[in-house]
Amino acid sequence: MTTLALTINGRAYGPTEVRDELSMNDFLREYLGLTGTKFGCGAAQCLSCAIIVDNPDGTSTTSPTCVVAAANFNGKAIRTDEGHARGNELSALQKAFIEHFAFQCGYCTAGFLNEGQVLLERLARKPVARVDLETTIAEALDGHLCRCTGYVKYHEAVRDVILADPKRYLV
Ligand code: FES
Ligand code: FES
Repeated sequence: MTTLALTINGRAYGPTEVRDELSMNDFLREYLGLTGTKFGCGAAQCLSCAIIVDNPDGTSTTSPTCVVAAANFNGKAIRTDEGHARGNELSALQKAFIEHFAFQCGYCTAGFLNEGQVLLERLARKPVARVDLETTIAEALDGHLCRCTGYVKYHEAVRDVILADPKRYLV
Protein backbone atom coordinates (compact mmCIF):
# COMPACT_ATOMS: atom_id res chain seq x y z
CA MET A 1 0.00 0.00 0.00
CA THR A 2 1.06 3.59 -0.66
CA THR A 3 -0.08 6.88 0.79
CA LEU A 4 -1.49 9.16 -1.87
CA ALA A 5 -2.21 12.87 -1.56
CA LEU A 6 -2.63 15.14 -4.55
CA THR A 7 -4.50 18.11 -5.94
CA ILE A 8 -7.13 17.51 -8.61
CA ASN A 9 -8.72 20.45 -10.37
CA GLY A 10 -7.59 22.71 -7.55
CA ARG A 11 -9.01 20.53 -4.79
CA ALA A 12 -6.92 18.53 -2.32
CA TYR A 13 -7.49 14.77 -2.10
CA GLY A 14 -6.07 12.46 0.54
CA PRO A 15 -3.95 11.41 2.14
CA THR A 16 -5.41 8.01 1.46
CA GLU A 17 -4.00 4.51 1.22
CA VAL A 18 -4.02 2.90 -2.23
CA ARG A 19 -2.70 -0.37 -3.57
CA ASP A 20 0.72 0.02 -5.16
CA GLU A 21 -0.53 -1.36 -8.47
CA LEU A 22 -3.73 0.70 -8.61
CA SER A 23 -3.70 2.62 -11.88
CA MET A 24 -4.39 6.33 -11.94
CA ASN A 25 -7.23 5.64 -14.34
CA ASP A 26 -8.94 3.34 -11.86
CA PHE A 27 -8.28 5.76 -9.00
CA LEU A 28 -9.93 8.64 -10.86
CA ARG A 29 -12.83 6.68 -12.31
CA GLU A 30 -13.59 4.05 -9.69
CA TYR A 31 -12.49 5.70 -6.44
CA LEU A 32 -13.36 9.35 -7.16
CA GLY A 33 -16.08 8.97 -9.80
CA LEU A 34 -14.21 11.30 -12.18
CA THR A 35 -15.33 9.44 -15.28
CA GLY A 36 -14.39 12.25 -17.65
CA THR A 37 -11.06 10.45 -17.90
CA LYS A 38 -11.52 7.57 -20.34
CA PHE A 39 -9.95 4.14 -20.74
CA GLY A 40 -9.17 3.10 -24.28
CA CYS A 41 -6.30 0.84 -25.26
CA GLY A 42 -4.91 0.37 -21.78
CA ALA A 43 -1.44 0.21 -23.29
CA ALA A 44 -0.22 3.83 -23.56
CA GLN A 45 -1.01 3.89 -27.27
CA CYS A 46 -4.12 6.08 -27.75
CA LEU A 47 -3.93 8.77 -25.04
CA SER A 48 -7.71 8.85 -24.56
CA CYS A 49 -6.87 8.50 -20.86
CA ALA A 50 -4.56 11.54 -20.73
CA ILE A 51 -4.78 14.05 -17.92
CA ILE A 52 -2.95 17.33 -17.32
CA VAL A 53 -0.07 17.48 -14.86
CA ASP A 54 0.78 20.98 -13.60
CA ASN A 55 4.49 21.26 -12.89
CA PRO A 56 5.97 23.44 -10.13
CA ASP A 57 7.70 25.65 -12.73
CA GLY A 58 4.35 26.73 -14.18
CA THR A 59 4.46 24.47 -17.22
CA SER A 60 2.01 21.67 -17.83
CA THR A 61 2.17 18.35 -19.60
CA THR A 62 -0.19 15.49 -20.24
CA SER A 63 0.22 12.00 -18.91
CA PRO A 64 -1.55 8.75 -19.66
CA THR A 65 -3.32 7.23 -16.70
CA CYS A 66 -3.96 3.69 -17.89
CA VAL A 67 -0.44 2.38 -17.38
CA VAL A 68 0.70 4.74 -14.63
CA ALA A 69 0.16 3.89 -10.97
CA ALA A 70 -1.87 6.34 -8.92
CA ALA A 71 1.00 6.40 -6.45
CA ASN A 72 3.15 8.09 -9.09
CA PHE A 73 0.98 11.19 -8.77
CA ASN A 74 1.56 11.59 -5.05
CA GLY A 75 2.22 15.24 -4.24
CA LYS A 76 1.32 16.41 -7.74
CA ALA A 77 -1.30 18.80 -9.07
CA ILE A 78 -3.36 17.46 -11.94
CA ARG A 79 -6.36 18.49 -13.97
CA THR A 80 -9.01 16.28 -15.53
CA ASP A 81 -11.78 17.04 -17.98
CA GLU A 82 -14.05 17.91 -15.08
CA GLY A 83 -11.78 20.90 -14.41
CA HIS A 84 -12.18 22.76 -17.72
CA ALA A 85 -15.56 24.43 -17.27
CA ARG A 86 -16.14 27.24 -14.79
CA GLY A 87 -19.52 26.40 -13.33
CA ASN A 88 -21.86 26.18 -16.30
CA GLU A 89 -19.46 28.11 -18.55
CA LEU A 90 -17.54 25.82 -20.87
CA SER A 91 -13.96 26.66 -21.74
CA ALA A 92 -13.20 28.22 -25.11
CA LEU A 93 -11.79 24.90 -26.30
CA GLN A 94 -14.83 22.93 -25.16
CA LYS A 95 -17.08 25.33 -27.04
CA ALA A 96 -14.91 25.04 -30.13
CA PHE A 97 -15.05 21.24 -30.01
CA ILE A 98 -18.85 21.44 -29.98
CA GLU A 99 -19.04 24.11 -32.70
CA HIS A 100 -16.81 22.05 -34.97
CA PHE A 101 -18.53 18.72 -34.22
CA ALA A 102 -15.03 17.62 -33.39
CA PHE A 103 -16.10 14.38 -31.75
CA GLN A 104 -18.26 11.51 -32.91
CA CYS A 105 -18.35 8.70 -30.33
CA GLY A 106 -16.43 11.04 -28.04
CA TYR A 107 -14.14 8.45 -26.59
CA CYS A 108 -10.94 10.24 -27.54
CA THR A 109 -12.28 13.69 -26.68
CA ALA A 110 -11.05 13.79 -23.11
CA GLY A 111 -7.46 13.33 -24.18
CA PHE A 112 -7.68 15.80 -27.06
CA LEU A 113 -9.26 18.38 -24.76
CA ASN A 114 -6.50 18.11 -22.20
CA GLU A 115 -3.78 18.14 -24.85
CA GLY A 116 -5.31 21.11 -26.60
CA GLN A 117 -5.55 23.02 -23.34
CA VAL A 118 -1.90 22.33 -22.57
CA LEU A 119 -1.02 23.66 -26.02
CA LEU A 120 -3.07 26.84 -25.51
CA GLU A 121 -1.38 27.52 -22.19
CA ARG A 122 2.05 26.86 -23.71
CA LEU A 123 1.37 29.28 -26.54
CA ALA A 124 0.13 31.89 -24.08
CA ARG A 125 3.54 31.66 -22.41
CA LYS A 126 5.50 31.31 -25.63
CA PRO A 127 3.60 32.41 -28.77
CA VAL A 128 4.50 31.07 -32.21
CA ALA A 129 4.46 32.63 -35.66
CA ARG A 130 1.29 32.16 -37.69
CA VAL A 131 3.27 30.34 -40.34
CA ASP A 132 4.24 27.71 -37.77
CA LEU A 133 0.78 27.25 -36.29
CA GLU A 134 -0.42 24.27 -38.30
CA THR A 135 2.75 22.33 -37.55
CA THR A 136 2.57 23.32 -33.89
CA ILE A 137 -0.99 22.03 -33.56
CA ALA A 138 -0.22 18.84 -35.45
CA GLU A 139 2.81 18.10 -33.32
CA ALA A 140 0.94 18.84 -30.08
CA LEU A 141 -1.99 16.57 -30.89
CA ASP A 142 0.16 13.86 -32.43
CA GLY A 143 -0.14 10.59 -30.55
CA HIS A 144 -3.84 10.98 -29.75
CA LEU A 145 -5.76 8.34 -31.67
CA CYS A 146 -9.34 8.81 -32.83
CA ARG A 147 -11.03 5.63 -34.00
CA CYS A 148 -13.72 7.75 -35.65
CA THR A 149 -10.95 9.59 -37.56
CA GLY A 150 -12.07 13.06 -36.50
CA TYR A 151 -8.59 14.53 -36.48
CA VAL A 152 -9.27 17.42 -38.86
CA LYS A 153 -12.11 18.78 -36.74
CA TYR A 154 -10.01 18.71 -33.60
CA HIS A 155 -7.24 20.60 -35.38
CA GLU A 156 -9.73 23.16 -36.71
CA ALA A 157 -11.22 23.70 -33.27
CA VAL A 158 -7.84 24.31 -31.64
CA ARG A 159 -6.82 26.61 -34.50
CA ASP A 160 -10.03 28.64 -34.15
CA VAL A 161 -9.43 29.28 -30.45
CA ILE A 162 -5.91 30.46 -31.20
CA LEU A 163 -6.89 32.67 -34.13
CA ALA A 164 -9.71 34.21 -32.08
CA ASP A 165 -7.07 35.69 -29.77
CA PRO A 166 -3.94 36.20 -31.91
CA LYS A 167 -2.34 38.70 -29.55
CA ARG A 168 -2.29 36.05 -26.89
CA TYR A 169 -1.12 33.06 -28.87
CA LEU A 170 0.79 34.34 -31.91
CA VAL A 171 3.80 36.56 -32.52
S1 FES B 1 -6.10 4.12 -22.60
FE1 FES B 1 -4.27 5.04 -21.92
S2 FES B 1 -3.14 5.38 -23.72
FE2 FES B 1 -4.91 4.32 -24.42
S1 FES C 1 -14.61 10.55 -31.71
FE1 FES C 1 -14.70 8.39 -31.57
S2 FES C 1 -12.67 7.81 -31.08
FE2 FES C 1 -12.54 9.92 -31.55
